[in-house]
Amino acid sequence: MRIKSIWKVAGVLGALALLGACRQDMHDQPKYKPLRPSDFFADGRQMRPLVANTIARGELRDDEAFYTGKNGKDEIDYFPLTVDKALIERGQDRFNIYCTPCHGRIGNGLGMIVRRGFKQPPSYHIDRLRQIPVGHFYDVITNGYGAMLNYSQQIQPRDRWAIAAYIRALQYSQNANINDLSPEQRANIPVSTKKEPGSETPHVPELPNFPEKPTLIPGVPGATPAGVKPGAKPVGPPAKPAAPKTGAAQ
Ligand code: HEC
Repeated sequence: MRIKSIWKVAGVLGALALLGACRQDMHDQPKYKPLRPSDFFADGRQMRPLVANTIARGELRDDEAFYTGKNGKDEIDYFPLTVDKALIERGQDRFNIYCTPCHGRIGNGLGMIVRRGFKQPPSYHIDRLRQIPVGHFYDVITNGYGAMLNYSQQIQPRDRWAIAAYIRALQYSQNANINDLSPEQRANIPVSTKKEPGSETPHVPELPNFPEKPTLIPGVPGATPAGVKPGAKPVGPPAKPAAPKTGAAQ
């Protein structure tokens, strides 16, 4: 009896080994892998090129205004999609990620990279950019502009329009007129009652001033933060560069 059961176990193991071998055969069967050569096709490649004059489903970009920001050669001055609060908030989100390092949170062109020496972009609040057709913003994101690289890989068309809408909101935020408010809204503006020492009138905070070409910080090429007075102490990078961080801290 004992010997018989040993043979049974051996039989089962044998069958399993055979099955395993079969699986191995299928695993090693001839098949195509991307970027491997092939002697089947005339061009010697396994991957097939796209068929000429075809467009993948959902990729037909026939809406010129939406996909280029232009109508022929002219930049369009309308939004080719519905602009609502959700779109503007999406634009704010994307703008804060992709544009603020150079253009700053309010678009004055004083982002952190600029303070560290990158070419300073113009403020969005200059007259030329306040009056420019909105298609220009779309085009700059899509194709870049001068020293600015394009963001067409990182930002898809709809988000480019969202950012363009947010830039318009930023521009409005820096140039809003009190007369745009209704008398009721004006009456509800919170007013500071704090008085400057020695003054009879309440303190009115000064509006920030966005110079187009602020003074340079001595020692930091091209760095031009707002509020730095000429002759201020140099705020350059440390004399000895810190040792590069290694490991998980990166
Ligand atoms: C790495 C820095 C950098 C980033 C990030 C950046 N820009 Fe710029 N941008 C510039 C510079 C520099 C200029 C000025 C280029 C020039 O005149 O050579 C510029 C110019 C512009 C202009 C003005 C073009 C004109 O007509 O003068 C617009 C609009 C603009 N950028 C939009 C954007 C938007 C939107 C984003 C985010 C998607 C963005 N930029 C991200 C550096 C940057």
